[in-house]
Amino acid sequence: MTIHKPPLGFNTWNTFGRDISEDLIKEMADAMVETGLKDLGYEYLVIDDCWSEKQRDSEGRLIASKEKFPNGMKVVADYVHSKGLKFGMYSCLGTMTCDAYPGSFNHEYLDAKTFAEWGIDFLKYDYCYRPKNVPGPDLYRKMALALKNSGRDILFSACSWGHDQTEDWIDTTGANMWRVTGDIKDSWQHIKNLAKKSISVGNRNWINCFADLDMLIVGMKGKGFCALTGCTEEEYRTHFTFWALMGSPLMIGCDIREMDEETKNILFNKEILAINQDSELNRPFIINSCDDMSDPEDTYTYVKILEDGSLAVGFFNFTDTKAYRFVTEELLGLSADIPLEYTVKDLWSGEEIKPVNTTIYAEIPPHGCRLYKITPKI
Ligand code: GAL
Repeated sequence: MTIHKPPLGFNTWNTFGRDISEDLIKEMADAMVETGLKDLGYEYLVIDDCWSEKQRDSEGRLIASKEKFPNGMKVVADYVHSKGLKFGMYSCLGTMTCDAYPGSFNHEYLDAKTFAEWGIDFLKYDYCYRPKNVPGPDLYRKMALALKNSGRDILFSACSWGHDQTEDWIDTTGANMWRVTGDIKDSWQHIKNLAKKSISVGNRNWINCFADLDMLIVGMKGKGFCALTGCTEEEYRTHFTFWALMGSPLMIGCDIREMDEETKNILFNKEILAINQDSELNRPFIINSCDDMSDPEDTYTYVKILEDGSLAVGFFNFTDTKAYRFVTEELLGLSADIPLEYTVKDLWSGEEIKPVNTTIYAEIPPHGCRLYKITPKI
């Protein structure tokens, strides 16, 4: 299957961890529709680890936990589909999943067939318990092939946490998205570490093989399975903006039944979602005071050229003090040989920013960001 835009959706892991069930998934499906998330394009509902029985059946097939999913997975998939959503599940290329449920090693074709029969549209595939002598890339390729031959279009989401230089081989495996980093937790330190890991890897984001910076923690506020300290509104905004601008898949991880206004303001920002989903998928480039990627001051300015001829300019401040940054028309390619007007809109405040002479300034709070959309008018 070919996907042309970063997938958007919800995944159970960050908030619910092992505590998943048929009822929960149905409630999440309802909430995705009722809150308007579906209309914004969040279409995948993904069950993470811990959904199966600890043993396969006598024919080697995976079975859904009888306690958590008493009616089996097909019923759950049918419900999710009845809401106009797509349904995702989880397995692992090793002998066990990361939480010690059966993995798909040496069962790839049977599992792909089982998933297709249940009606899944998305498979997240983890990297735990890999037999030492078997290379990870081979196992991703094998499952990708099994899925392609399963008789159903199934998006393949690789989750090797950037290990073994994933960026060098993942686009040869048939994976549709790939995890750049280790696991996110609900803290500013995690947002910062993951963003910086992705900066150092260099945003290897391909159409049909999207670089996944991990599920969102926006709105968790210190509650749920991967909760830590929680983050401020400013920090969640920086997190969402960075992920969106880099073209990462955006999989919500908070409890979407209980989103407050602050959380909705972030996850529902249509203009920022549009930048994430921009069809040209141009790689953002960095403009900085330093010419290498590791700005000692931990502030980064990224520019992404959009399909409609406008620019998205993101200023990110990962430091603990306020920062001032600017971009010039010249750096942006806007110093024109014919009269050229343009508007600059702050996509969080909605305000119009006035350039000073030929320079656009931004004041960025600690842990904060600014995202400007610059639209030429010719
Ligand atoms: C990790 C993965 C997490 C989650 C977890 C489940 O390896 O990175 O996103 O899927 O396993 O056990």
